[in-house]
Amino acid sequence: MTVISAVPTLPVGALFSQTRREFASWYSRLWGPLGALATGVSRPRVGERVLDACCGSGASALPAARAVGATGHVDAVDMAGALLDQGRAEADRQGLAHLRFHRGDVTAWRADAPYDLVQCCYGVFFFPDMEAGTRHLVDLLRPGGRIALSTWVGGGMDSMVRRAREAASAVRPLPAPPAAPDPRTRVDSADGLAAWLRSLGLVDVAVHRVDYRVPLLGDDAWMFLLGAAPRRFVLGMDEQQLGRVRDRLHADMAAAGHSHLDASSLIAVGVRPQ
Ligand SMILES: C[S@@+](CC[C@H](N)C(=O)[O-])C[C@H]1O[C@@H](n2cnc3c(N)ncnc32)[C@H](O)[C@@H]1O
Repeated sequence: MTVISAVPTLPVGALFSQTRREFASWYSRLWGPLGALATGVSRPRVGERVLDACCGSGASALPAARAVGATGHVDAVDMAGALLDQGRAEADRQGLAHLRFHRGDVTAWRADAPYDLVQCCYGVFFFPDMEAGTRHLVDLLRPGGRIALSTWVGGGMDSMVRRAREAASAVRPLPAPPAAPDPRTRVDSADGLAAWLRSLGLVDVAVHRVDYRVPLLGDDAWMFLLGAAPRRFVLGMDEQQLGRVRDRLHADMAAAGHSHLDASSLIAVGVRPQ
């Protein structure tokens, strides 16, 4: 009989802290450009107060801090301490003293004053309750303040995650994914994301699609698996097992002609009514 209970799990913050090296290796091709694109849509203004929820190492918090300037303020919150350390180092390097990184669960974050802008890139679907967590973020806005969310377009990033899961489960069986509908499917199309944001009471909702594909060369797919949420599929594996997953992943992808990481995204903005 196959024993699947031995697959270890980690809280999301600890998981992303473990990804720090490979996450950083993808920063300049993935997280950094997509964070800059998100702030191109959220448009932080000089002097604004911004919350960057699920900030990682600062991909969208750093451009937001540059945009609001020293008269503004950015709180960047994440549970992954190792990614926050990378963000702090970069903020120091850029002289962004008004950008503060905080370790914590953003769904329980409290602030002294409301925010003009809350942004959250590729984070809401990690919340144990996506709707309640996002409502909490909306509650942190002043009336008339705006929230900007980035999500993956369906059929893009999820196909990479599926391949990672298949390669890992060929080496060590994984528990079946939860039977409940994946909350990501509510926010992976422009219409679905817009409808969901309106259901949260937001107005003036606009969703922008960004087509973004990165060629996968050499060890890229494996580095991606280790540098993002799919790392959970290989937690606790020994070196030999890891090598087998890597080889399997690359072989499967080559056989399927899967030569790019499709990180096409939706960037949505909505306004909290006055
Ligand atoms: C895919 S990463 C994206 C990081 C960053 N926004 C970026 O685009 O580079 C998702 C991040 O969400 C964080 N996260 C997930 N749930 C969280 C929560 N409840 N509170 C704070 N951070 C959370 C994880 O630790 C991880 O760093």
